[in-house]
Amino acid sequence: MTIQETLSRHLQIALKNLLGDELPASYRTNVEVAQDLRYGDYQSNAAMALARQIKKNPRSLAEDIVRSLGELPEAETEIAGPGFINFRVRPSFFAQTLFSMLRDPRLGVAVTEHPKTIVIDFSAPNVAKPMHIGHIRSTIIGDTLARIARFMGNNVITDNHIGDWGTQFGMILWGWKHKLQPDLLEKDPIATLLQVYKDVNALCKEQPDVLEECKAELVKLQSGDDENLEIWKRCIRLTKIGLEKIYSRLDIHFDYWLGESFYNDALAPLVQNLIDTGIARESDGAICVFSDGFHRPQQDPFLVSKDGQWLPVPAIIRKADGGFLYATTDLATLDYRINHFHADSIWYVVGAAQDKHFKQIFDVQRMRGINGDFRHVAFGSILGKDRRPFKTRDGETVNLQDVIDEAIERAGRVVREKNPTLPQEEQKSIAQAVGIGAIKFAELSQNRLSDYIFDWDKMLALTGDTAPYLQNSFVRVCSIFRKTNTNFESISTDAPPVLHHEAELQLARLLVRFGEVVPAILDDCRPNLLASYLYDLARSFHSFYEACPVLRSEGSERESRLVLCALTARVLKQGMSLLGITLPERM
Ligand code: ARG
Repeated sequence: MTIQETLSRHLQIALKNLLGDELPASYRTNVEVAQDLRYGDYQSNAAMALARQIKKNPRSLAEDIVRSLGELPEAETEIAGPGFINFRVRPSFFAQTLFSMLRDPRLGVAVTEHPKTIVIDFSAPNVAKPMHIGHIRSTIIGDTLARIARFMGNNVITDNHIGDWGTQFGMILWGWKHKLQPDLLEKDPIATLLQVYKDVNALCKEQPDVLEECKAELVKLQSGDDENLEIWKRCIRLTKIGLEKIYSRLDIHFDYWLGESFYNDALAPLVQNLIDTGIARESDGAICVFSDGFHRPQQDPFLVSKDGQWLPVPAIIRKADGGFLYATTDLATLDYRINHFHADSIWYVVGAAQDKHFKQIFDVQRMRGINGDFRHVAFGSILGKDRRPFKTRDGETVNLQDVIDEAIERAGRVVREKNPTLPQEEQKSIAQAVGIGAIKFAELSQNRLSDYIFDWDKMLALTGDTAPYLQNSFVRVCSIFRKTNTNFESISTDAPPVLHHEAELQLARLLVRFGEVVPAILDDCRPNLLASYLYDLARSFHSFYEACPVLRSEGSERESRLVLCALTARVLKQGMSLLGITLPERM
C-alpha cells in the first residue's frame, strides 16, 4: 500500500467514526500530494468538501476530523488555512516504506485490482503517404501507454491500424505501371512509394487524362482486379518491412497490424445494420447518422453552431457513389475489437484534429447500445523554432527515419565530447540510447495536448528535463556501485535506513511516490506525470549526492545512503523503461 493510500484509509475510518450515517455515500476520500513542503507531504480538503454538504464550519470540522484521526504512527497532522488537513510523514515511516520497496521487485507499484483488456491504436501511418510528425507523437505516446498499462497488469493489445486502403492507391497503381524503378523500391520502399505518389499527384494536376486513368486503376482495385490486387499487396508488404525497421530502432512492437483494408468485407453489412436499426438514414443519396438529441447542442458532435443556429453535421458512412469512408471503417474496427478481442477499453492515440471524428464514432456506438472505455487520446502539434509546424529546411514534412538518424548523430557528438576514451562500439550504442531517448523524452515530458517546439539543442542538453540528464544521473549512481564492487539490483539490508539529513529525506519522499505516480498515469493517459516525476527524482538525487557523501561515510549511515542510491537507480531504470528509454551504465 502506498503512503497516500495508507493516509487515505486512516482518514476514511476517522470520517466514518466521526460522522457515521451523516457521511454522504457519494463522498470519496482524497489525500493529495502537498504542493509545498511547508504544508507537509500530503494534504486533504475533506473538511472543506464535506462542510458544505453537512452544513458545518470547515475549520471546526477539520478539528473534529484531526481529533478523530488521533495520533497516527505514520504521520503528524495539522490544520491549515480554511480547513486543510496536512499530513507530515514521519521519517521513520519513510524509512520503513523504503525498506519494503527494497525487497519489492515492483518498487511499490501494485498490480491493478481490476485488470482489463485494453486495445491501444497508435502510430497508424498511411501507406505511400508521408509519415508525419503526428505519427511520431502517436507512436511514442502510444507505446508508453502500452508499456505502463501492461506493467499495471492489464491485458494490452497493440494494433497498428495502418491506412492501407485509401484513394492514394489509384495514383500508386498508375505510377507503378508507368514510372517505377524497382531497385529503389526494394531499397527504401517508404520513400520510393511516397515519391511515386508525389510525382503522379503533380502530373495529375497538369494532365486530367492521367487523373482519369488513376481513378480507373482505383476502381479496378476496389472491384478485385487480380493484377492491381497483387501490386497493392506488394506495396503493403514492402511498406511494412520499411516500417518494422523504424519501429525496431525505437524498440516499439505491435501485436497486430490490422489495417483499414482488413475491415472491407464488414462495411456493407454494418451500414445495412445501421439502416435497419434506424440509426442511419439516406440524405442526398448518402447514408448518414444524424444527432439523436441525446446531448446538449454544445456537446453534440453531430451539430455545429453557425450564425446563432445549430446545423447538422452528420457522420457519413456511405457516399452517394456507394463508397465507404474513414468513419465506416472505424465503426467496423470498434466492433471487431469488442467482439474478437473482448476489449473493455479501446484507446486511440491520434492528433486532436480528429476529435470530432472520434466523438461521432463513440456516439454512434452509444446509439447502438455499445458502451465501453473508449478514449481519444489526443495530442497537439510539434512546432519548429519559428513556432510554425515543424518542417525540414526545404519545407517538406519531417520524416521519422531522418529524425532518428539525426538524433543519433548529434547524440554521438555529445557522447564523444563527454567521454572521448570510451571504446567506439560502446560510444555507438550509447549514442543510440541517448539520441532515441532524447526524442522520446522530449515528447513524453510534454502535456500531450499542448504544442511543443522541436529543439535539438534543448532535448540533447545534459541539464534540464532531458533524457541525457536522466541518463547521466543513472550513470552517476552506477559509478558509485562500480567503486564498491556491488550491484544496485542486489543490495539488501537487515533494517530500515536511517534518514537524518534533509537531502536524504527529500530523496526518500520522492522514491516512495513511484507507486503513486505510475497508476495515476492511466487515469487520463498522461505519461508526462511519470517524466516529470523522474526528473524531480534525478534532481533530488543530485542534491543528495552533493550534500551527503556516500562512499566516505561509515556504518549505518553509509548503508542507508547506499540503499537510497540503489532505489534511485532501480526507480530510474524501471521508470525510464516504462517510457521506452534505455539507460546505459556509462556515458
Ligand atoms: N491513418 C490515420 C491518419 O494518419 C490514423 C488512424 C488512427 N486510427 C484509427 N482507428 N482511426 O490520420
